Amino acid sequence: MTRAGAKIGRVLFTKEEIEARLDVLAGEIQERYAGGELTVVAVLKGSLFFTADLMKRLKIPVRMDIIEISSYSGGVTPAPSGEKTLSKYIADDVHDRDVLVVDDILDTGGTLAEVLGLLRAENPRSLATCVFLVKKRKRRLKVPIDFCGFEVKARDFVVGYGLDYAQRYRNLPYLAVLKGVGKSKRGTKTSSRRKPAAVKKTRRKTASGERTGDSRKKRRPRPVSSGRRRKRGGRS
Ligand code: XMP
Repeated sequence: MTRAGAKIGRVLFTKEEIEARLDVLAGEIQERYAGGELTVVAVLKGSLFFTADLMKRLKIPVRMDIIEISSYSGGVTPAPSGEKTLSKYIADDVHDRDVLVVDDILDTGGTLAEVLGLLRAENPRSLATCVFLVKKRKRRLKVPIDFCGFEVKARDFVVGYGLDYAQRYRNLPYLAVLKGVGKSKRGTKTSSRRKPAAVKKTRRKTASGERTGDSRKKRRPRPVSSGRRRKRGGRS
């Protein structure tokens, strides 16, 4: 199936339903972190809208950072090896902070497991997760989810509200099923392939040991093999 064959199908959650759920989620998060300061780490690009709308609702002090990691090559099929490309990493120190990782969707759990592994090594005071969507499926990886927006069927490939197909449809204000992609009745996946964008420099230390978030230099995509842990300061 080509990209041109993909069409927006059934709307699963309207803009109003998403907004109502966000109100509830924000309430739960506020309650958990009342009296403290929260560091939200958004996993881009998919969680961009979700994170922004959620953060606007939080009435507690919140800091924000980002990680950009991808497993898809522009279509609906993750890299067969399960390799992820980490193109941006947090700029600030999260040591001893309460960190909430915000992601768009939990599918196999590979992406979030990878992100949690990286952040755990930074020794935050606490590390929790909030995902907009959870796909209902069996997962080999057990990834703890503390806050969840909605559940969706595993066979549906969904787009909108930040989620894309080949970088399109993110701007839809609702969540919909994409027709013509995903698992067919025979269980085979259809996809369109595109190379991931070049990886950018993420976080560096200056001569004085200060961390910078300089992202001007472009680098080759950096695969992150599953389960690999990075040592503090070992990132380049
Ligand atoms: P894993 O399998 O690592 O997948 O939990 C998480 C990442 O896969 C992408 N993904 C989707 N993106 N519609 C999308 O637009 C989907 O139905 C879908 N399922 C998985 C997404 O980037 C997510 O972060």
